[in-house]
Amino acid sequence: MSATVPESGSQPTRREAVMSALGAIVGFIGAALAVPLVAFLFGPAVSGTRPGGLLGRSIPPTPRSRAPWSPVGELAALPQGQPTLTTVQLPVQEGWIQSTMAVAVYVERTGPDSAVIFDLHCTHMGCPVVWNQAAGRFLCPCHGGVYDANGRVLSGPPPRPLDRYAVKVDGGVLYMGALQLPGA
Ligand code: FES
Repeated sequence: MSATVPESGSQPTRREAVMSALGAIVGFIGAALAVPLVAFLFGPAVSGTRPGGLLGRSIPPTPRSRAPWSPVGELAALPQGQPTLTTVQLPVQEGWIQSTMAVAVYVERTGPDSAVIFDLHCTHMGCPVVWNQAAGRFLCPCHGGVYDANGRVLSGPPPRPLDRYAVKVDGGVLYMGALQLPGA
């Protein structure tokens, strides 16, 4: 009696067929895992919004994708002529994931039905600026950038004024829109 040895180029053995099937399954699972990972890693870059985002600053989300306006609160409740640190809940969509993100901004009521909303980040390298009421200035603790109450640069390395968000007032409620990017 002699054992049967498969010839080269003949039908694959059962072991080879099983290994091929396992390889295909592993490849399929790897591809399925890679898609959301790639979307997570590169989605913001593809849909990205802010030039200079690599200079050590986070990229603030914008409510552009779904709800274009996020409520900030009653306008009349804000002190006039004084930037107030406020947290706004923004709807965020990354791929198919919807969530909200708390974003800190400076809100200032400028009239009975008007306001400005400043981005918190210094336009130099993204450090959070601090409003100093006594000085009437926004101060950046990182490299000494100084902005006036309108967000204009007074001194230091910031290359441009503080960025602002779009605003609207409806029914006495202040709403925050998209970040207004320079040159956009
Ligand atoms: Fe504000 Fe440099 S990050 S002055």
